[in-house]
Amino acid sequence: MRFDELERRYEEAQAALARAETPEALESWRTAWMGRKGAITALTRQIRDLPKEERPAFGQRINEVKAALEAAYEARAAEVKAEALAQELAEGAVDITLPGRPLNVGHLHLTTQTLREIYAIFERMGFEVYEAPEVELGYYNFDLLNIPPYHPARDMWDTFWVDDDLLLRTHTSPGQIRVMRERYPEPIRVILPGKVYRYEQITARSEHQFYQVEGLAVGRHITMSDLIGTLTEFTRMFYGEHRRTRVRGSYFPFTEPSIEIDTDCILCGGKGCPVCKYTGWLEIAGAGMVHPVVLQNGGYDPDEWSGFAFGLGVERPAMMKYGVKDIRLFYGNDLRFLRQF
Ligand code: DAH
Repeated sequence: MRFDELERRYEEAQAALARAETPEALESWRTAWMGRKGAITALTRQIRDLPKEERPAFGQRINEVKAALEAAYEARAAEVKAEALAQELAEGAVDITLPGRPLNVGHLHLTTQTLREIYAIFERMGFEVYEAPEVELGYYNFDLLNIPPYHPARDMWDTFWVDDDLLLRTHTSPGQIRVMRERYPEPIRVILPGKVYRYEQITARSEHQFYQVEGLAVGRHITMSDLIGTLTEFTRMFYGEHRRTRVRGSYFPFTEPSIEIDTDCILCGGKGCPVCKYTGWLEIAGAGMVHPVVLQNGGYDPDEWSGFAFGLGVERPAMMKYGVKDIRLFYGNDLRFLRQF
């Protein structure tokens, strides 16, 4: 009878243990069955009510049952713990509601953005982009542009020489010769963007490397008004509809006549300020009608052909437009600067 009860209790305890799925349920199970007032402990106390000869066998069986339940409890506890951990991992380890870490996405450098703006404007006027080498023959950089070795104008463009013949170009103008030699006898309408170099003191206003955009148009009836019209239109599209321009006579060995084009100061609107040195005007390009000698060096007969050329800066217009005060920032690699554009 007692044995039957013991075995029944044993089974009940096992079944109850299998149903315990949380640490709290396990704890209650332990109290209910194995604790001081638990069901198994209660059976132990009944030993003394048994006839003497039955006591050892019953006692032994109870001890077996207790040990088995202890072991089952440990096993079940381990299982519950593992399940809880697995569930925690599945639900909580990766919180998909947290905002992600931002990816660092690069963007175009201010110079590139400005160049592209310039390309787009000239593209609308029918100019194509032509690229010429940065490492150039001195012959192309100077001689073919009507600057012979003895000419004092060479002093305007001191540069870095690679050897006796090769240099880092001081301007994009030698590209004019290269396009003409390649395109003759076609009419030409190109811009030549790129980096140029000067042996210069570096200051807030000048760097030893910077960008230029050269322009060249060669045709049969090209005149100074085409040049002025083109640059006026460029100024309006780049700086805004209401900008005024003015033309001054100037000198360049490769153009005749030569001019410089100014726009009214974008900062003070023409009243005069430190940026425009109180003149109210800012220079935006050197330009002129292509010198007959240069046309000839390019293969075009100056009696039949004429052309205009211009040279624009890139960083300075960008500085004007975006209020950048120091040209050195363009090559400073300071992300705080670069990210503003
Ligand atoms: N090459 C000149 C410079 O770097 C700029 C220039 C002036 C280019 C007049 C031209 C031009 O094509 O016609 O200072």
